Amino acid sequence: MNREILILNGPNLNLLGTREPETYGAETLGDIIAALQPFAAEKNLSLRSFQSNSEGALIDALHEAREWAAGVVFNAGAYTHTSIALRDAIAAIEIPVIEVHLSNVHAREPFRHQSLIAPVCAGSIGGFGRWSYFLGVEALDFLLNR
Ligand code: DQA
Repeated sequence: MNREILILNGPNLNLLGTREPETYGAETLGDIIAALQPFAAEKNLSLRSFQSNSEGALIDALHEAREWAAGVVFNAGAYTHTSIALRDAIAAIEIPVIEVHLSNVHAREPFRHQSLIAPVCAGSIGGFGRWSYFLGVEALDFLLNR
């Protein structure tokens, strides 16, 4: 069975570590991915990671993931709240996508309370900082083992 998964990150997440550390923590995206690798390996999952600030590149990555990945852990950043195109891409691919956020979006500004992608994701995780990604990997492992 395919045990390859994609960790996909959207706009501004390349700036983790320096971007609003009081909200998003002091770790870089590279730090988080590096810590996720052995965690996934313990579950016999192998990770590929991709980040883009561009909506089209994220859509292409989701389309391509359909060809090789068993599932996706996706932090869509602000596109979560705006992008019908990303929602349609997630709906179009058959593999499970787990929505993750570092922050608890429901405890923040009202415009962050709506996720356009949540209804087409297998589930959503937020508010646990870097651990949201770990829980996302855990959730995919659970789905793949079912
Ligand atoms: C975020 C939450 C979004 O509202 C925000 O636009 C981000 C990061 C998070 O991980 O908490 O860029 O997805």
